[in-house]
Amino acid sequence: MMLNEETEARLIAAAREAALHAYAPYSDYQVGAALLFADGAVVTGSNVENASYGLSLCAETVAVSRALGEGRRGGLEAVAVIGPEDKGDGAPITPCGRCRQVLNEIAQLGSTDPVVVCVGKDEVRKVALSALLPHAFGPAHLD
Ligand code: THU
Repeated sequence: MMLNEETEARLIAAAREAALHAYAPYSDYQVGAALLFADGAVVTGSNVENASYGLSLCAETVAVSRALGEGRRGGLEAVAVIGPEDKGDGAPITPCGRCRQVLNEIAQLGSTDPVVVCVGKDEVRKVALSALLPHAFGPAHLD
């Protein structure tokens, strides 16, 4: 599935829609993530917080859990992530360190290097997962 303009717009729209379902009563910082697979499927997630704050899950981690939970084991081609437009300086957010590692798991399973589409207020920043997490440790190391 080529990340052409149309597919990218679809992925970003899915991430934006997912953010509407965020459970983020503590931070009031709603994040949406959308994963694009080689077969064209899009799997989304939003952040899920917890009264025990440290247990909160990021949108990207929730999306990867859903994808793995429905049997996907690779084929990850792109990821879109979007935070609230009215927080911070509106610059695109990038996945946190833990989420980079979680994304790497499913990417490495299928030997892909997904492009991470980070959506800000007035800017979209695209960066390869391998650039966000160089020299990554992953499942292949355990073979
Ligand atoms: N968060 C995400 O879901 N993804 C990111 O890439 C950055 C941070 C969440 C975690 C927490 O629920 C809230 O945003 C504030 O940090």
